[in-house]
Amino acid sequence: MIEFAGVSKKYKNGTQALKNISFKVEKGEFVFVVGASGAGKSTIIKTILREEIPTSGLVVVNGYNLSRMKRRHIPKYRRSLGIVFQDFRLIPNMTVYDNVAFSLRVTNVVSKEIRSRVPYCLKLLGLAHKAKCYPEQLSGGEQQRVALARALVNNPSIIIADEPTGNIDPELSFEIVDLLSEINIQCGTTIVMVTHEHELVSYFNKRVITIDDGVLLADTRSGTADYLFTGADLMDGYSKTLSSREKAIDFSDKALPGPSDPCATACGAEFPVGRRPDRDKQRDCAPAGRKA
Ligand SMILES: Nc1ncnc2c1ncn2[C@@H]1O[C@H](COP(=O)(O)OP(=O)(O)OP(=O)(O)O)[C@@H](O)[C@H]1O
Ligand SMILES: [Mg+2]
Repeated sequence: MIEFAGVSKKYKNGTQALKNISFKVEKGEFVFVVGASGAGKSTIIKTILREEIPTSGLVVVNGYNLSRMKRRHIPKYRRSLGIVFQDFRLIPNMTVYDNVAFSLRVTNVVSKEIRSRVPYCLKLLGLAHKAKCYPEQLSGGEQQRVALARALVNNPSIIIADEPTGNIDPELSFEIVDLLSEINIQCGTTIVMVTHEHELVSYFNKRVITIDDGVLLADTRSGTADYLFTGADLMDGYSKTLSSREKAIDFSDKALPGPSDPCATACGAEFPVGRRPDRDKQRDCAPAGRKA
């Protein structure tokens, strides 16, 4: 599904960002990519998105050799991926609904389908009551859930997330990764997520690829890369906090879509991603049109 074979990347200014990186991500895997600032994590993500081309080596995604991909095919390729960034990248003068619908409109999905898929994805992420809000009316966590809804609405086979929790508080970070994890488990969507947050990596116990100064330092299947952490005491503290903490999102079947939900069919499984009723009762927004 994603293969890096001997990939090196030297930027024009001479910075060697990646040095002979090789790894494979199979369909349905969830992989964290970790490493210090400047290690080369975003360069890996940009290479997968075909924003950067390796100086040498091979990157193959969904069977496409990205170095050979024709420029005119790049937008279509990118639309086949779900992409989530640290800074959300929502369109400020569009409502939540339109932000999510936008990625369907640009691919000429028929209106009837847009009218069923967008509300479905908003409901899934606990955002139905925010459909008419503008991004500035939302909290950071809500904005990131809109970005996640937008990434999901095309039913991508891969979601690429570069520090999706970087701009939100720790409690909401768990919520976002919980959602990604459920999407991965229930829909078989492959997830590649860059993060700095060691407690998330430890808690979710997924595969971890560690990059250090452009080199692949470790690739652990079990999730916990012990050397990432500064001490056992610190980890002990995290474990206690986490085990006493309730999951941020209610994944119970209260919020499950009905069997006729269009996205349920589209991804071959029902999304069991729920919402937290106590929080979702909170503030609704003014009707759309404010910024018409
Ligand atoms: N467009 C560019 N031109 C030149 N050098 C770049 C460019 N983009 C990144 N770099 C350099 O490449 C190296 C890897 O950068 P990258 O953004 O991949 O790191 P990162 O691991 O994502 O860091 P962070 O955790 O701070 O986001 C760094 O030394 C960075 O300064
Ligand atoms: Mg980065």
